[in-house]
Amino acid sequence: MIQFLLNQTLKSESALDPNTTVLNYLRRNLGRCGTKEGCASGDCGACTVVLAEPEGGQLRYRSVNACLTFVSALHGKQLITVEDLKQNGQLHSVQQAMVDCHGSQCGFCTPGFVMSMFCLQKNGGEYQREQAQQALAGNLCRCTGYRPILAAAQQACG
Ligand code: FES
Ligand code: FES
Repeated sequence: MIQFLLNQTLKSESALDPNTTVLNYLRRNLGRCGTKEGCASGDCGACTVVLAEPEGGQLRYRSVNACLTFVSALHGKQLITVEDLKQNGQLHSVQQAMVDCHGSQCGFCTPGFVMSMFCLQKNGGEYQREQAQQALAGNLCRCTGYRPILAAAQQACG
């Protein structure tokens, strides 16, 4: 039995094939198709989701490749996907920053970038360009170039 929070909802899964990736679980079992499959091998970041778990008395957020993560790794954690960010019809500040800074063209990479930026924002601290570059280093975009995406990170996390 695997128990975890899907954003704010407690999920218990006992009949899942342990070889199921979080990516397939989200897309095929839950119909959450915001998380994209690009390479399916950990290279592109299109499938990025965020996992939160308690560490030192506070929540620590990590962005992970859902295509490489098996569902068993969710146990005891909170899973946040791109569908969870918009609240009451309002884009999350990282989504709005991508819009404002023109950080998206075809949009295929965008959910992954948004989740990596969300993770950077959640972990807080003063904005540093190098840290933002590192946080986004696992995300590839073939359309926009990275300048507008980094501008969005600065707007959202600065
Ligand atoms: Fe490319 Fe997961 S789909 S890293
Ligand atoms: Fe097309 Fe990034 S907007 S790959």
